Amino acid sequence: MSSATLPDIRVDYEQPETAQAGAACGTRHAWARVPAEPSQAERAALKQRIRSLLQSRNAVMVSHYYVHPDLQDLAEETGGLVSDSLEMARFGRDHTAQTLVVSGVRFMGETAKILSPHKTVLMPDPDATCSLDLGCPVDDFTAFCDAHPDRTVVVYANTSAAVKARADWLVTSGCAVDVVAHLKSQGKKILWAPDRHLGAYVQRETGADMLFWNGACIVHDEFKAFELAELKKEHPLARVLVHPESHPDVVVLADAVGSTSAILKAAREMDVKEFIVATDNGMMHKLRRLNPGKTFIEAPTAGNSATCKSCAHCPWMAMNSLAGLAHVLETGTNEVLVDEGTGLRARLPIDRMLAFTATLRPGQAAAGLVPNVGAA
Ligand code: 13P
Ligand code: SF4
Repeated sequence: MSSATLPDIRVDYEQPETAQAGAACGTRHAWARVPAEPSQAERAALKQRIRSLLQSRNAVMVSHYYVHPDLQDLAEETGGLVSDSLEMARFGRDHTAQTLVVSGVRFMGETAKILSPHKTVLMPDPDATCSLDLGCPVDDFTAFCDAHPDRTVVVYANTSAAVKARADWLVTSGCAVDVVAHLKSQGKKILWAPDRHLGAYVQRETGADMLFWNGACIVHDEFKAFELAELKKEHPLARVLVHPESHPDVVVLADAVGSTSAILKAAREMDVKEFIVATDNGMMHKLRRLNPGKTFIEAPTAGNSATCKSCAHCPWMAMNSLAGLAHVLETGTNEVLVDEGTGLRARLPIDRMLAFTATLRPGQAAAGLVPNVGAA
């Protein structure tokens, strides 16, 4: 088995002139336009406006678990969806609404547009991106692929449309292990991009021959194994739930590893009262809502082994707001557009993933819990 890594790719983030003191997120290397919290009265008025705009525009909301709780609740209340990135893609494709309003980050909006080129896809903030997407520029990625023509190119959903267009397969964290195991069973060698931690996890689970791009999620990369082990000692009955974008030293401490949906499933199914959760803290809203008798503790991101003061919240997911949503529905601005040729090519690996995951039986389901065989 061979594996290799590229040199580290450093992502530089621009500090906007307009960011007011105290308004920027403290997550290292990143900034965000963190929207002001509306008052109760403003919140109620915005929600009302959005409800009627959704109706008049024949639009539906699709929200990720990491966005503000208001955007999650409103999506569900209005017949939309809150879910992981795999289900977001599927739902947007299958829904009859002419306009999809995606609260999440850019790759989610682009995937929706690729799957539904004749629909209008809007996003509350077009600058909401992802460190994995930023860290995988298409030209460098193409050169990497060209240098390894013997490998099947498997790309994580958190990438640009252009990178997807160079891939053979798309995966999300909800189906990555299943897809790579399938390819391995066909004797394929894999070129994997961009998340090195998810890639390492998939390789450990499948034993596949994988060559890695060297990207990372700036949020999950902040979870600290030493502090997590200490926290486990303070809460010996708690189970640890980890998103596989986290560092391998954190993953090895997990009782369950999986996508955001798999984390939710594990929390519901495990017969314990306390959990430590290593994923974006936007997830806490749904975890607590669905499990009122259970306690959820955020896994530590800062402490003795931390390199900086950080929080476990994606600065780009935080750019989504009720005000932004109302604005785009009213004005039609921030439409997500994907070049037709790129979209057609990028659709192939996405369709392949959706067709493959549709064949999985329940219990073998792509978004289901991935047990961590290495767990203590
Ligand atoms: P999921 O596919 O698990 O929802 O993850 C998306 C993501 O961006 C995680 O950081
Ligand atoms: Fe990207 Fe990480 Fe934010 Fe997810 S949490 S969108 S992987 S930066």
